[in-house]
Amino acid sequence: MNSDQFETELTPRRIVEFLDRYIVGQDKAKKSVAIALRNRVRRRRLPREIAREIAPKNILMAGPTGVGKTEIARRLSDLVNAPFVKVEATKFTEVGYVGRDVESIIRDLAETAVAMVKSRMIEEVQVSAAERAEQRLVDALLPGSERRRSMPDIMKIFGGEKEEAPKPAPEEERARESTRRKLLALLEEGKLDDREVEIDVVESQSVGIPILGGSGMDSMGINIGDMLGGLLPKRSRRRRVKVSEARRILQAEEAEKLVDMDAVVREALEKAAEEGIVFIDEIDKVASRGGGGTGPDVSREGVQRDLLPIVEGSPVPTKYGTLNTDHILFIAAGAFSSVKPSDLVPELQGRFPIRVELQPLSREDLARILVEPENSLLTQYSALLGVEGVDLEFQDDAVAEIALLAERMNAEMENIGARRLHTMIEQLLEEVSFEAPESGARKYPISAEFVRERLEPLISDGDIRRYLL
Ligand SMILES: Nc1ncnc2c1ncn2[C@@H]1O[C@H](COP(=O)(O)OP(=O)(O)OP(=O)(O)O)[C@@H](O)[C@H]1O
Ligand SMILES: [Mg+2]
Repeated sequence: MNSDQFETELTPRRIVEFLDRYIVGQDKAKKSVAIALRNRVRRRRLPREIAREIAPKNILMAGPTGVGKTEIARRLSDLVNAPFVKVEATKFTEVGYVGRDVESIIRDLAETAVAMVKSRMIEEVQVSAAERAEQRLVDALLPGSERRRSMPDIMKIFGGEKEEAPKPAPEEERARESTRRKLLALLEEGKLDDREVEIDVVESQSVGIPILGGSGMDSMGINIGDMLGGLLPKRSRRRRVKVSEARRILQAEEAEKLVDMDAVVREALEKAAEEGIVFIDEIDKVASRGGGGTGPDVSREGVQRDLLPIVEGSPVPTKYGTLNTDHILFIAAGAFSSVKPSDLVPELQGRFPIRVELQPLSREDLARILVEPENSLLTQYSALLGVEGVDLEFQDDAVAEIALLAERMNAEMENIGARRLHTMIEQLLEEVSFEAPESGARKYPISAEFVRERLEPLISDGDIRRYLL
């Protein structure tokens, strides 16, 4: 599917349907996210003058811990064909943090975009790259071409080539041509795949160059290795490999050469600016109540202030060029248990006009989360133990029982949402999991009774449950 088709088909309804495959409930959040994505497609189809004016409607997701905020972002990034980065706001409150670092988010976005566009372009040149690789393979296989190829490039520059390899006689030339054709045919049929051949492989550039720059240079997105890499002559090394392997190596090398990096960078920067999505998780952790004050609050508020220009739209220097953040979509999320969105600095609040609240999970939600999502928790455990021949059979009442106990634990202890299910299932299946290799192939029915027997003792022991569940 090309990207235009992809966009047309990515209707809000489709996006929600996709998210439904993995996330139970949270319909409002799914809907908001879907609309925000669609709005960008709409904007891009407008005339430039009006499109310029339309700022993305950034989203703030709030809701208790473990109810699917991060999960929504994760799934979204799989779905959209757009540069996407996810960061935790707390990363910027760490020791040694310097203001500029927040811009690293945007540099990462540029990096992601470049990788995306490049890999697409590499895909597009594969046919030509394959042809060129075959030609090089023939050269490598053909006896006599050896001497010319092994001569260092530097000597060719000084005309060494002409001296060492005088022009062959016409009949010799014809014979060579015919051998080449035969070899090419054999290669294409894969008949030479198991033969060995010597090829020159370009060594990767960044190896062995120590990092000289301090954090200052790093924060500018300048990598000394990259800089030198472009200047140093490419080093290559002779390697003896199977023809099939050589074909793979040479094809990759040729594809690299065929891709126009300037075009990649140009398209990537535009794509990042127009379609980029930044997910800022744990935003509540940089909010503080009451404002002002000293200590950690200052640094937290500092992070918000640093985020501000980026979210408001500003040019950020990256090693590929300037990336303007005006139209990047920001989605922020946080549990907001002890602080509220209104505890964020006002300017930042204003940049997140769309608020969605995620709901705490009910007992029914927990039961559904166990079984419904694609590759749900129970499916994962069944698959893992299936490898040992153990066939887990979760009965319906067992699923209901696990959900009931998880709900109880969340109510009596800390409410950690669906995360509770992970620890509970782990405890539930500990014995089975331990014994599976010896117990051999068999069915293993899991009933409500079994769930109670395994989990009740842990739950009723106040000390134990604090550690285990
Ligand atoms: N609504 C849901 N549907 C399916 N799985 C869910 C849902 N909510 C949570 N989970 C599962 O629970 C785990 C934790 O969810 P997630 O990481 O999304 O929590 P969160 O809302 O980001 O919480 P926090 O505020 O602590 O970061 C994940 O493994 C996720 O798959
Ligand atoms: Mg999270």
